[in-house]
Amino acid sequence: MYRSRPSGNLDNRALSFLSSITEDADLFYYDLLGSQAHVLMLYESDILSKKDTIEILKGIDQLLNHSDTLKEYADPASEDIHEMNESAIIKITGINVGGKMHTARSRNDQVVLDIRMKLRDELNRISSQLLNLIKSLLVRARKNTDTIMPMYTHLQQAQLGVLSHYFLSYCFSLTRNFERFSELYRRTNISPLGACAIGGSSMPIDREKVASLLGFSDIVYNSVDATTSRDIMIEFSSISLITILDLCRISEDFIIWSTSEFGFISLDDRFSSSSSAMPQKKNPDPLELIRGKTAVIEGNLVAASSIMKGLTSGYSRDLQEIKPLLWKTSTTLEGSIEIMDSIVSTISIDQNNMYSASATSYAISLDIAEQLIKDGNISFRLSHKVMGAIVDYASRNGNISLSSLTIPDITVALKKINFTHPILTVEKILSIIKLITPENSIKFRKTKGSPNKDEQIAMIDYIDKMINDYEKDLELRLNKLYLARDHLDKKIKQLIYKPS
Ligand code: ARG
Repeated sequence: MYRSRPSGNLDNRALSFLSSITEDADLFYYDLLGSQAHVLMLYESDILSKKDTIEILKGIDQLLNHSDTLKEYADPASEDIHEMNESAIIKITGINVGGKMHTARSRNDQVVLDIRMKLRDELNRISSQLLNLIKSLLVRARKNTDTIMPMYTHLQQAQLGVLSHYFLSYCFSLTRNFERFSELYRRTNISPLGACAIGGSSMPIDREKVASLLGFSDIVYNSVDATTSRDIMIEFSSISLITILDLCRISEDFIIWSTSEFGFISLDDRFSSSSSAMPQKKNPDPLELIRGKTAVIEGNLVAASSIMKGLTSGYSRDLQEIKPLLWKTSTTLEGSIEIMDSIVSTISIDQNNMYSASATSYAISLDIAEQLIKDGNISFRLSHKVMGAIVDYASRNGNISLSSLTIPDITVALKKINFTHPILTVEKILSIIKLITPENSIKFRKTKGSPNKDEQIAMIDYIDKMINDYEKDLELRLNKLYLARDHLDKKIKQLIYKPS
């Protein structure tokens, strides 16, 4: 480290305590990319001579593309990646040339630049994985619009539904996460460079130029904000948590559905673990791990926001601790989305078991109660009471399924609540019960967003269109970044190899 005021070297223990070099490994590339753009801007703003610019850019190019140069000049015992790279360039080009690279720049704007550049790429990767997962859910939804199953509240059978409805529900919630990440992308895709340590520079730098060279859409305007704020990092941690909470719920559903007691689905062998002791076991370990990793992501959000709490404005070294949390969160989320996608695409679905559970289920009660209202013009509260009494009778007498009830059964059940009605006679009630088969239960529920076939198809079309639009948006975003990187690369090559 170039120490001007403190004398001598940093104590070795202090250096290893302070150093973020290990966690910074992934920033190596972004840091050099940022330096290329900064140096180019210094040259185009007449701050650096052409000769110095070319020497520095050649040094950066060597570090990026020649591992021997990296080994020779980069000191792994550095305080951080910014220092390591700058020192390497100074070793390669000499202090009189390389020493100019850090003009009008500070590690304080440099670190947030690097984080923003890496985060952009992480956001793009996560967004594309999310779209893949949504597409896989949609494939499964298309095939299961007629797969009748019980739906649960409080994990008790609530109403009958269809499996496509379940898959579609996660298409909807995951597209909201895609949208959240896209909004965050817009906030991330602005450059803090030129904010310097906290208060800008007297050198005639061009913040907009360096931003555009790096593919940013704008600059973080205020230099205090640019170097102090870590809101996008907290936002990333938070959206990641919201997203993995969705995966966690799917995991929990699948774990329960794959038990012998439920037998609704079974995991593909490639995504199941075995037991070292019990030969019969096929365990849903990947799903359990998504559940476990959700806690890690939640912890990272709490840790990141706790680091921010109590800090003054302007850079403080505490902020360094946020970086590893972010990268841990992104790799954990990426791994979880990817494995969930594989599981969704490969589970086998036992439609018969789902149907049997539905056919004997009291989850049909609300549909029958609504039919009683329609046919007998009674209040909902009264029909609720009638059905409650019938279900109570059926369950106390050996869990008789509603469709197997007889006239005497219903007579006894209704007597208990003294129910008599001119239209809703025992015979009429029995005929209504027989009418509400699992199929009719689904068919008669016409409300928007409910499980009936037309609504399933409408929702499938809706999601399909949404995915198409979002894929295009993402492609556009990726293309802009690619073009900016290509443009920067060409500019540098032109200067290094064909300086006219
Ligand atoms: N390693 C530091 C970090 O990751 C970089 C910024 C250091 N700046 C400073 N003034 N000490 O946050």
